[in-house]
Amino acid sequence: MSKTKITFPKDFWWGSAWSAEQAEGRGETGKAETIWERWYKEEPYRFYKGISSEVATDHIHRYKDDVQLMKQTGHNSFRVSISWARMFPNDGVGQVNPKAIEFYRDLFTEMNNNGIKVFANLYHFDMPAALQDLGGWESREVVDAYVNYADTCFKEFGDLVYNWFTFNEPLGPILGTYLEGFHYPNLIDFKRGAQATFFTVLAHARAIQAFKKYNYDSKIGTILNLSPTFPRSQNPADVKAAEIADLFYTRSFLDPMVKGVFPAKLVALLKEYDQMPVDFNQDDLAIIKDNTCQILGLNYYEPRRVKARLTAINPDGPFLPEWFFENYTMPGRRMNEYRGWEIYEKGIHDLCMDIKDNYGNIEAFISENGMGVADEERFMDENGQVIDDYRIEFIQDHLAYLWKAIQDGCNIKGYHLWTFIDCWSWINSYKNRYGLVSLDLKTQKRTIKKSGEFYKKLSEDNGFSYDVDKLI
Ligand code: BG6
Repeated sequence: MSKTKITFPKDFWWGSAWSAEQAEGRGETGKAETIWERWYKEEPYRFYKGISSEVATDHIHRYKDDVQLMKQTGHNSFRVSISWARMFPNDGVGQVNPKAIEFYRDLFTEMNNNGIKVFANLYHFDMPAALQDLGGWESREVVDAYVNYADTCFKEFGDLVYNWFTFNEPLGPILGTYLEGFHYPNLIDFKRGAQATFFTVLAHARAIQAFKKYNYDSKIGTILNLSPTFPRSQNPADVKAAEIADLFYTRSFLDPMVKGVFPAKLVALLKEYDQMPVDFNQDDLAIIKDNTCQILGLNYYEPRRVKARLTAINPDGPFLPEWFFENYTMPGRRMNEYRGWEIYEKGIHDLCMDIKDNYGNIEAFISENGMGVADEERFMDENGQVIDDYRIEFIQDHLAYLWKAIQDGCNIKGYHLWTFIDCWSWINSYKNRYGLVSLDLKTQKRTIKKSGEFYKKLSEDNGFSYDVDKLI
């Protein structure tokens, strides 16, 4: 085995990401209730060990120290999300909150002063609860409120932000709310989900439209969770199942947000099954066509493996994408058992190649990738440092395939890990830890993990040594 130094392009973005609801804590600035706070009040038992987002990683009080930790772990860029509920504490609309503006301006200034580029995302699953009551993403009124929120952020923070993003993983709230029951208010209704999907895409396009009038140097795009889809076999039935799964989970947002049009095959399928959104018009479609991403963030965690259905569907059950395929458990696959996700590092290469070959090689970066592990105290040394060699290996194995994608011509500008300091993970709360920095939940003490030290060196060296002969 011989190792070669693999080097990334100059000015590569090394960093990580998290979101407002997962890290900030409520604080004292004033903030509308979010759907997560509402849901916790109603069903606290849905959250791992009954822990809410009330305090989270207390970033609202500790942001100055946290920026120093970013530096110490090699960040030259970092993605936050701005809290809509904090910006507009009166139910997500009305007067903007001066204390929220002050907080985000201070944070972004602190980051810039320390050489850390600000990647600012607008929506990361955290709908103000009162707007959910109006229908959430099924409501045009909510789209208007979002565009007002987005425009306010562009105006107030435009001088401090390097890259803007309209949404993080817009598919997540659709799956969680309308199909799989892991986001409040847990409806099972595909057709309503299709409407919410359409309005999410419209909100994205209208935010980009609003952004363009400022003529900032920064770019705007979105962040999508994309899993390359693999059929069990080349049997035509498996291939067809994979193609349909891919339409639902990959092309549904990627095509309209990057190319400005919804995939014709998906539209035809939804028409056939009477699942089309009800409220849309030609003007909406024109806005979507004219306002597409300038940059794309790719969240990659696991591949999607599917096969043709073995069993018939229940025609009386609700319509779901699974009517057309079943998930396939590939013998021999490697798993991150804590999260239940397959580890398949080559998928990062396949994903980037898809963007190169089918989406005009748009400027892109890995906006999330990472490994959540439970009970990491097990791996602490006598000084309280988590010795997470498994995470270092995970990062290196994925980066090697990312490097290969760049050699193969992909327009990849950076890599952001999920996450920086261990943060609150929605219904999983603090079960799985993803950070470069560990968090003692009782004291809020932060300690850099072994992976945090590795990440600093990686960023300084802009690469690392690796046995590239291993790559397939
Ligand atoms: C991404 C999200 O899906 O994955 C994050 O953008 C999330 O918000 C991360 O925390 C890890 O997933 P989970 O469910 O383990 O928190």
